[in-house]
Amino acid sequence: MATAYLAVRLVSEFAAEVRASLTKPGQRELPSKYLYDEVGSALFETICVLPEYGLTRADARLLEKYSGEIVGRLPSPIRVAELGSGSGKKTRWILEALSRRQKTYYYPIEISPSALAACAKELGQIDLVSVVGHEQPYLEGLRTVAEGRGEQDHLLVLFLGSTIGNFDRDAGDEFLQEMRAILRPGDALLLGTDLEKSVELQLLAYNDPAGVTAAFNLNLLARINRELGADFDLAGFQHEARWSSAERRIEMHLRSTRRQTVHVPAANLRFMLDEDETIWTESSHKYKAEEIAGMAARTGFRCDGQWIDREWPFAQNLLIAE
Ligand code: AVI
Repeated sequence: MATAYLAVRLVSEFAAEVRASLTKPGQRELPSKYLYDEVGSALFETICVLPEYGLTRADARLLEKYSGEIVGRLPSPIRVAELGSGSGKKTRWILEALSRRQKTYYYPIEISPSALAACAKELGQIDLVSVVGHEQPYLEGLRTVAEGRGEQDHLLVLFLGSTIGNFDRDAGDEFLQEMRAILRPGDALLLGTDLEKSVELQLLAYNDPAGVTAAFNLNLLARINRELGADFDLAGFQHEARWSSAERRIEMHLRSTRRQTVHVPAANLRFMLDEDETIWTESSHKYKAEEIAGMAARTGFRCDGQWIDREWPFAQNLLIAE
């Protein structure tokens, strides 16, 4: 009963957000969080192994190489919460390093049940590690974990893969501030940030020649068709990746290749797209290594360490709650 109620609530939230973002004056948009249904999550896992998308490998290389050093800087005892764990593969390095010194509780927080299951399978067998998944939005899940810990327990929050880059910069700061409000002084946040590199490399990473990113982007329209009964004709849209030098971000858009009308019955919406009009589906902000300390200071943390991958400029940043 509760699950059925939740499903109905989620569909109506989805419909309301689709309606609001598609009817925004000016540029039409869709919220990027809806890219990740089961198909979208599988396509994203494939993006992560594309030769053009170096981000995930850089993130993993840093964890493999520096987990011992990172863990050495953390207070004890400490529990680990991960926001958006995905399959959990990269997290293994941190959990193995921690489990050498203490029994470790690991709480992946995800709204995708299939990703949570994959993560529990991947990490559940490490000796001295207990995995307890939370199928909740990030901050709600983090609050549950923070409230459930003992007086002495510190928390390490993992926010890897440069997911922070999918927030607008101000919204990213707000998110970190809200996270900080849940934590205690001395708690830690390991924040992965993709760094600026040549525009050519960045564009290729979001417009791979095999078309996986295009399929990931177009699946958002397919999902709206599946779940909200819409009639988007996917053949009438083209994936586009743009670099905004003013905002220092990649933007993903879906370009309508002709004038067309779309009907989204569950959102009570009918609208017309002009030829070449786009729907903006995602932003991926890129960072300079030096700007992370400022971001930490603005949001109630201090940057205690930074590790950079030189092959694919990417940084792991260890922030400590002040
Ligand atoms: C999850 N997130 C950090 C990815 C990114 O790079 O912004 C999502 C993605 N979009 C296209 N490719 C990958």
